[in-house]
Amino acid sequence: MMSKQTKNIVLGISAGIAAYRMYDLVGELKRLGNNVTVILTKDARNFVSELPLKVLSSNPVYCEMFSAELQSKPIHIELADSTDLILISPATADIIAKMATGICDELITNVLLASRCPVYIAPAMNTNMWEHFTTQKNIETLVTKLGYKIIPPEEGDLACGYTGMGHIASNEKIIKTILYGEFDTKPLYGKKVIVTAGGTREAIDPVRFIGNRSSGKMGIALADAAYNMGAEVVLVSTVPCEKKYQVIEVESAQEMQEVIESEFDKADALIMAAAVSDFRPIIASKQKIKKKNEDINLELTRNPDILEILGRTKRDKQIIIGFSAESENIEKNAKEKLEKKKIDMIIANDITVPETGFESDENAVIILTRDGKKEILQRQPKTQIARYITTRLSEIFDSIKEVKKT
Ligand code: CTP
Repeated sequence: MMSKQTKNIVLGISAGIAAYRMYDLVGELKRLGNNVTVILTKDARNFVSELPLKVLSSNPVYCEMFSAELQSKPIHIELADSTDLILISPATADIIAKMATGICDELITNVLLASRCPVYIAPAMNTNMWEHFTTQKNIETLVTKLGYKIIPPEEGDLACGYTGMGHIASNEKIIKTILYGEFDTKPLYGKKVIVTAGGTREAIDPVRFIGNRSSGKMGIALADAAYNMGAEVVLVSTVPCEKKYQVIEVESAQEMQEVIESEFDKADALIMAAAVSDFRPIIASKQKIKKKNEDINLELTRNPDILEILGRTKRDKQIIIGFSAESENIEKNAKEKLEKKKIDMIIANDITVPETGFESDENAVIILTRDGKKEILQRQPKTQIARYITTRLSEIFDSIKEVKKT
């Protein structure tokens, strides 16, 4: 692995057992031509010693805020001004909480507050501590408010005896992330995304319904992709499924509307992949309709257009993505829906092509966005299309952030 250029790196080590791995990390970063300066928290000295870190980095190792020696600049300012990036690894729940609230009782937290360079965090801790509401809230603050990048912990056997999430990322992954930008930093972290999936069923009587051929595969793939990119996902689905994220099962368009409307206020995005029935029987018979000798007429009434209602009322920063199932004039009809429903992106597909239609594992789509851009995704697995769409969603969030900054 070759480093693109020499970087001045401050490595903040906090008090976790994974600290011992930093000996190798410092050695490897140095071998790749970087200048590494280590700062230990006071308690980290229980896990690693200064001397080997000094030898491996060929630099002084810092810990104390104040030294008796006279310096032209205080040490935290000197280090903050001269570093290209800061890596906190391992990052304990304690240091994460301090970073999120600005507590400066350690040299490293002072350096963090005084610097304006990119900051990477490699958390490592007990599973319950990692999954604790407070830790997750602090991580969300660091990502969404400060732009820090998380190198997520992994599942594994932990020193505390647990098996689960909380194992520090490998040194290789940390290096790839901080030096080569190959980060898996969960770009949808801190975002709540509602995804709908499947086809609604509109009851005629307790036995029969009006339905459609949607399998829910595209919606579920989108929910999985958003979850894997760090989003808090609520999947509103007509297809039962068990997931690590919240799944709310619904049947009719009205039920779907009710759930979405109760979740949408707190959501950052809605992806409407469900095939919502436009009509429902005016009356759903409580008893099974018995056959008689004459024909019967089924009277239908319009269902609410959920996408259109929310497109009209959404806040500026909420992003709505819709789908457009078409059998002709694919692009033209999709463009009209994008505009009429006032949504941010529409994914159009041709439902007449058997390989990419409703029950298929593959899809081919045209993506249209409000800024007039058009992208064509050729036939490929729905999972891949889902990743593409959620990546585009994260880019829209980034662009909103940038507009806010300027
Ligand atoms: N949609 C919705 N509520 C409805 C109907 C559709 O929210 N009552 C959403 C779908 O989930 C999809 C988008 O609107 O994201 C477009 O759905 P589609 O069935 O392609 O088009 P319609 O708007 O229903 O128009 P038409 O059936 O005339 O093509």
